[in-house]
Order: sequence, then C-alpha cells, then structure tokens
Amino acid sequence: MDAEAYRQEALDAVERAETPPALDEARVRYLGRKSELKQALREVRDRETGMALNAAREAIETALEARQATLERAELDRALTEDVVDVTLPGEELPLGALHPITQVRRIVEDAFLGLGYEVRDDREVETVEYNFDKLAFAPTHPSRSHRDTFFFDDTHVLRTETSPSQIHILEEKAPPVYMVSLGRVYRRDAITATRYPIFHQFEGLAVDRNLTLADLKGTLLHVMRELYGPERGVRFRTHFFPFTEPSIEPDVSCGICGGKGCRTCKFSGWIEMGGAGVVDPRVFENVGLDPEEWTGFAFGCGLERAAQLRHDIPDIRVLWEGDLRALRQF
Ligand code: DAH
Repeated sequence: MDAEAYRQEALDAVERAETPPALDEARVRYLGRKSELKQALREVRDRETGMALNAAREAIETALEARQATLERAELDRALTEDVVDVTLPGEELPLGALHPITQVRRIVEDAFLGLGYEVRDDREVETVEYNFDKLAFAPTHPSRSHRDTFFFDDTHVLRTETSPSQIHILEEKAPPVYMVSLGRVYRRDAITATRYPIFHQFEGLAVDRNLTLADLKGTLLHVMRELYGPERGVRFRTHFFPFTEPSIEPDVSCGICGGKGCRTCKFSGWIEMGGAGVVDPRVFENVGLDPEEWTGFAFGCGLERAAQLRHDIPDIRVLWEGDLRALRQF
C-alpha cells in the first residue's frame, strides 16, 4: 500500500465533505476498523512502513478534526443569520386560568379568620342526624328534619344541611378555648331558582372561651364583613331564632347595588341578609359535656354564594354552578 497516495486521497475526501454525515463517511472509509490503512497497520512488519502508515494516520486525523470544526462553525453562522429571532414580534398569549369566584371568597374568609387566630377546618358532608340536628338542639318537630327539606340516606344519615355540626365535632375533639372556622358544601332539598340551589357553601365560625359576649360576636362579624365587602358598607343585626344559639341574630349588609336606597336585589329594603349567628345555647355546651356556667361562646354561619354574588353583582346563583367558562372568565 502506498501510504502517501492513501493520505492524499483521504485528505481530498475530507476536504470535499460538505456536511457532518459526509465527513463521518470519510472517517469510516479512511480510518475505520475495516479501512485499508487499519488493515495495513495490522499487517506491518518493518519499522519504516509502520512509521509511514502512522504518519498518514495522524495527518488524516488532524485533517478530519479541522474539517469538523469548519463545518460546525459554518452551521453556527448559518443558524445565526438564517434562523433570526425577531424579538420585536408580539408574544403568543398563553391562556391563564383563574380561581372560581367561590374559591376566591373562600380564601378571603379563611385569611380574615386566620388573621384573627382562628383554626380552619373541613368536616364531612355525609352527617348523622345526631350531629346535624340532635346535638345542635333542634326540636324533634323542627321542619328541617323532614324528608321534604333534607336529603336522607337512611333513618340516621343525611347530607349535612349546614356547617354547624362542625361546632359539635371540634368541641368533642378539644377542650376550649376554641376559635375555629369551617368551610364547605351543604345540601337542602330546594328547587333551583335564581337565588337557591340544592348545594351551596357556608362558612361556620365558633368561638368558645371565658367571658365572651354578644359584643365580641358583633365585632368579629363586622370585621369579616368589611374584609369581604369593603369598609363603606353598612352592617346591622336583627334578632332571630336558631335552635343552637340564644340570643340569635341575623347580620345584614347594606345593598351595594343601590347603595342602600332600595332596589330589586335587596327587595327595596336597602339591606341584604348574610346568614345567622348568636350566643352559644347552654344546651349545646351540655350536649358536648362542657359546663355552661364556666364557658361562653358565639357562633355564626353565612353562605359563600351570597358573598360571591354580592362581591361581583352576579344576579343568578346558577352562574356559580354551571361551570360556563364564558361567564366564569369575567371574574
Ligand atoms: N346554620 C344556620 C343556617 O344554615 C346559620 C347559623 C345560625 C349558623 C346561627 C350559626 C349560628 O353558627 O350561630 O341557616
């Protein structure tokens, strides 16, 4: 084999290679395991031929490396000039998700109560008659106990009609002082209308400590209503009845749509009812084994749909349940 001729032929081939695959082909052909050069090197017998062949091999390797670098640089130059990125082009807008209005309100309520030192809890939705009604001191004849108002599974299990059973659960779990808020879904057998839906959300608060009064309840509710609706809204309290509080009140917030002057939304009263509240009835304390002479407390329960509707002027509650993105995108 003529080492010099082989070297010349190989260098020509390397120089002719225009692309990395073509260069690889030349590498295999002239330096590969089955190349003529490698075969000749395996069979070499004298020192001179060996040196000549090795010199050829080194020259070809150097040429391959140089050519490789040239091709890579050419590819980089091509990419830099041809694949130009116009940084002034407008970007592609990615669709951004958003929190459902109920989730937004839920977080505002949670934050407000966490700020007051309350613990947040989440209780079961399938509840026993005992916790949903009995321990909350509902009279045996109370209308909510009927199958027409409440979803029953069997004689002893219902879909909870309110978040108030959380009051019993926490008082059975831990000794006072207790400051908790419980948020979640509740169920009632109501026909679907613009203002009612058989599933909705409530937040339930309970404070049990020594020397709590109705004034503490009013201050707490006032604070949370302001967090939800802003400082300029009016808040008032009307007396009412609930089985598990005595006295009981209903908080109202001034109508934001008419500014309190009276409109269809507030039924021309200027006020919108927010839920129920009151001072914990001694019978509730007795039902969980606490001494009503020692402990005092207040509780409240409000609807989240109502709060979301008021914050966003949503006229129909069904918007919050249908999951129609055309509507939800607006919040
Ligand atoms: N559970 C009542 C309802 O759903 C609301 C309520 C009233 C909750 C008084 C309370 C309370 O905690 O003290 O109508």
